[in-house]
Amino acid sequence: MIKQAIIPLAGLGTRLLPLTSVFAKELLPINGKPGIEYILDECIEAGVKEIIFIISKKKKMIKKYFYNDKFYKRIIKQKKDPRIIKEYRKLLKYKKMIKFVYQNKPLGTGDAVLKTKKYIKDKFFLMLLPDDLIVKKNCTKSMIKIHKRYSSSVMASMNVDKKTVSRWGIYKINKIINKNNFLIKDVIEKPSVKNAPSNKAVIGRYILPQSIFSKLKKQKAGKGGEIHITDAIQSLIKENNKFIAHNFPGKYLDCGSMNGYIKSTIEISKL
Ligand code: G1P
Repeated sequence: MIKQAIIPLAGLGTRLLPLTSVFAKELLPINGKPGIEYILDECIEAGVKEIIFIISKKKKMIKKYFYNDKFYKRIIKQKKDPRIIKEYRKLLKYKKMIKFVYQNKPLGTGDAVLKTKKYIKDKFFLMLLPDDLIVKKNCTKSMIKIHKRYSSSVMASMNVDKKTVSRWGIYKINKIINKNNFLIKDVIEKPSVKNAPSNKAVIGRYILPQSIFSKLKKQKAGKGGEIHITDAIQSLIKENNKFIAHNFPGKYLDCGSMNGYIKSTIEISKL
């Protein structure tokens, strides 16, 4: 069973400027609900019991969003508005499940994962990237099923336009397990069109083994001077650890760019 999830939230969100100049992108509303709540709901529905947020000093606003009890109590006392009471209860439920750790320097997703090392208890844990919303079907649930069936690490995957490969982690298939599941031979962070082994991209949902931490400790900076989770995963694959790419059900929405963010609101409002 996968009981713990981690969510890197220390990113600056420059692709969403000016919205992110004073505001955490993960709290921006998508159809009236902060993006991060969609991610939390996906985890909770899939049976995750504890969620570790990796934030930075600059993004303390995220913690405050879940820890504003005094404010809510005062308002509820004055107004007794059932909608606010319901929202506050929901926040309390989330708060009970969330732990916070800090990554104050933006050194990359791999570095963010390393910050959670001492909190991870089981052999496998989940990581979700908050820019990647997946709606209609629960991607995490579907990945956990694959993890259980094959006792393997799992990454969400989808085919992308060949011209856009340098935006993603791209993998090469070792073996086709079935229509939607592939054993991975190699994974490369943001390759050029020329060097990309395929047009199959990794999307921001990962079931990772605890052994990733020892790889991350030694991991050198890669593309763009950042420490990438993808590079640590590649090292594990080269040592014969099984990683399955899972073509997930559900609809992918890229909330990390301005265009994608706007589209997400429109798509979700149609659900
Ligand atoms: C990250 C990963 C990349 C993956 C992508 C999915 O990139 O490093 O391998 O394909 O998420 O959204 P980022 O979006 O942080 O640039």
